[in-house]
Amino acid sequence: MRLLVTGGAGYIGSVVAARLLERGHEVTVLDDLSTGHADAVPPGASFVQASITEAAGVLSEGFDAVLHFAAKSLVGESVERPGLYWSHNLGGTLALLDAMRQAGVDRIVFSSTAATYGEPERTPILETDPTRPGNPYGASKLAVDTALTAFAGLYGLGAVSLRYFNVAGAYGGFRERHTVETHLIPNVLKVALGERESVSVFGTDYPTPDGTCVRDYVHVTDLADAHLLALDACAPGEHRIYNLGSGSGFSVKEVVEVCREVTGHPIPVTTAPRRPGDPAVLVASSEKIQRELGWTQAHGSLRDMVADAWAACAKPA
Ligand code: UFG
Repeated sequence: MRLLVTGGAGYIGSVVAARLLERGHEVTVLDDLSTGHADAVPPGASFVQASITEAAGVLSEGFDAVLHFAAKSLVGESVERPGLYWSHNLGGTLALLDAMRQAGVDRIVFSSTAATYGEPERTPILETDPTRPGNPYGASKLAVDTALTAFAGLYGLGAVSLRYFNVAGAYGGFRERHTVETHLIPNVLKVALGERESVSVFGTDYPTPDGTCVRDYVHVTDLADAHLLALDACAPGEHRIYNLGSGSGFSVKEVVEVCREVTGHPIPVTTAPRRPGDPAVLVASSEKIQRELGWTQAHGSLRDMVADAWAACAKPA
C-alpha cells in the first residue's frame, strides 16, 4: 500500500514507518520536525518536511491510508498552553481529515492515548470505561476520537484509534529522544549515561504497594505491529478503538530497579512531590485487540524493553 505517516520522524512514528517498509509498503513521512529528528526517518521512506495542516498537496499524489502520529504530547505543557494542544491536535487533525476527504483517502490509524480515560475507576481499563481526561492533551485526543466516529458515520471513513499506555524500548536504533524529556525510562537512563546526577521520583505517597505510581509498559515494536493489524482492520464506515498495554503494571521504583539491573549503574534517586495530573495506577486491558485483531506481545518483559532502550542509547540510529 502507499501510506502517509504523519509524525514519522518521532519515536513511535519512526518505528512504525520502519516496520511498514519491511512489509513492502511504500511510505511517505510527513513531519514538521518541531519535535522529531530528520535522521529518525527510516531509509527507504520519502520525507516531506511540513505540518499536518499542509498535507493536502502530498495527499493529492494518491495514498491508500494515513497513519497519524504527529501531535503535541506533553501532559504538563498541555496544562500550561491548552490552546497549542487544541489547535495542533484537534485543529490539525481536522485539517488532515478534510485533506483526506478531498483526496479520496478513506482509511486512518490514529495515535490515541490512555490519557483519554483520566483517573480510572478500576483497573485494568476497558475501552468501554468512562473517558474523563484530566488535562488538555488527553481531552484533545479524545475530541479527535469523537470526530473520527462522526466522520466514519457521515462519510464512510474507516478509522482505528489505538490508545497507548506507556511505550518503551527501541527498534533498529530508533529510540525515544525528546529535547525536553519528561518520560521515566529515558530520564533514568540519562543517569546511567552520566547526563544526570539522579532521577526524581514524583510522589511516594500514592495508594500503591510501594507508594509510587504504577504504569503499564508496552514494547514499541509490539505497539508498531498493532498498527499493521489496525491498518488491515480499517473498514469503511467503522471507527474502532483499542487499548494497547500489557495488562500488568510496574511502579516507578520497580522501573528504576530494572534499569539498575540492566545498566549496572547504581542510579541515585531523589524524592520529589507528586507531579500534577498523574493518576496512581494506569493499566490497560488489551483483551479486545487480542481477541478482535489477534495482537500478541512478543517483547512483554520490562527488562527487555529497558535493555533495548539502553542498547539504542549506546548505538543511536
Ligand atoms: N516519573 C518520575 N520521574 C521522572 C519521570 C516520570 O517519577 O523523571 C513518574 C511519573 O510521575 C509517572 C511515571 O513515572 O508516575 C511514568 O511517567 P511518564 O512521564 O514516563 O509517563 P506517563 O504515565 O505520565 O505518560 C504516559 C504517556 C503519555 C500519556 C500518559 C497517560 O507517555 O503520553 O501516559 O496518562 F498521556
